[in-house]
Amino acid sequence: MRIPIIAGNWKMHKTASEAVQFVERIKEQVKGTDVEVVLCTPYTLLYPVKEAIKGTNIKLSAQNMHWEDQGAYTGEVSPLMLKELGVEYCIIGHSERRLYFNETDETVNKKVHAALKHNIKPIICVGETLEQRESGQTNTLVKNQVVKAFEGVPGDRVAEIVIAYEPIWAIGTGKTATSEQANEAIYNIREVIRELYGEEVYTEIRIQYGGSVKPDNIEEIMNQEDIDGALVGGASLKPDDYVALVNF
Ligand code: G3H
Repeated sequence: MRIPIIAGNWKMHKTASEAVQFVERIKEQVKGTDVEVVLCTPYTLLYPVKEAIKGTNIKLSAQNMHWEDQGAYTGEVSPLMLKELGVEYCIIGHSERRLYFNETDETVNKKVHAALKHNIKPIICVGETLEQRESGQTNTLVKNQVVKAFEGVPGDRVAEIVIAYEPIWAIGTGKTATSEQANEAIYNIREVIRELYGEEVYTEIRIQYGGSVKPDNIEEIMNQEDIDGALVGGASLKPDDYVALVNF
C-alpha cells in the first residue's frame, strides 16, 4: 500500500516571513488528509519552516544538495547540513537543475547515494522534452535516467525513494500531460524498477507526476492507477490552492 505524496516545490520563491505565514495559513486545513504533505523550500527557508511545522503533519524537503558531506565547494549545501535541520526529503535532478546548473545523470546518482547515506529520502526527477516526446524517445530516455539514477542503490533502500515523472514541456507551461500519458510513463518507470529490482520492490516505490498540476486537475491525475502523488510548482505557492491539492 503506497501512501500518496503531494509535494509543493516552491522553487526560488518566498521570503522567510512569507513562508511562515503560508504554514500558519495551511496547517490546520491539511491535518485531516491521508496523503503525505511535503514542502520543498529554498535553503534559506528550511529553518523557519522547520520551526513553523512543529506539531503538524507537514514534512520538510530541500530542492537540491551537494553529494559531499563537507569541503571547499563555495555556495553548496551538504546532506549532513540538511539532515541536522530536520530535512526528510530532497529533490534531486529537477529538470531546471539539469538545464541551468549542469546537473547530469552522474551527479544525480552521486546525490542519491549521499542522500540515502544520511537517511534523506530522494525525490528523483526524470522526464523528456517536447522534441524527445515527439520523436518517440520518451521511454528510452526516461528509462536511461532511471537506470543511471539508481546505479549501485541496493534493493532494500528503494522503497525510501520517490520518483517524480515531470515531462519538461508540461512544467510551468499550463500544458498538462493527459492523465493517460502521465500514467503510461509512470507505469513504464515502475516496469524499469521491476527489471532492476524484481517483484517485491517495484510495487513499493512511489512515483509522482509533475507538470502544471492544479486544484482542477489533481483529482483526475490522482485517480490514475499508477500515479502516487504530485510534485507541484506554481500551484503550491498559494495557500488555498495547496490546501485544495492536498485535500483533493
Ligand atoms: O517541481 C515542480 C514542477 O517543476 C512542476 O512545476 O507545477 O509549475 O508546472 P509547475
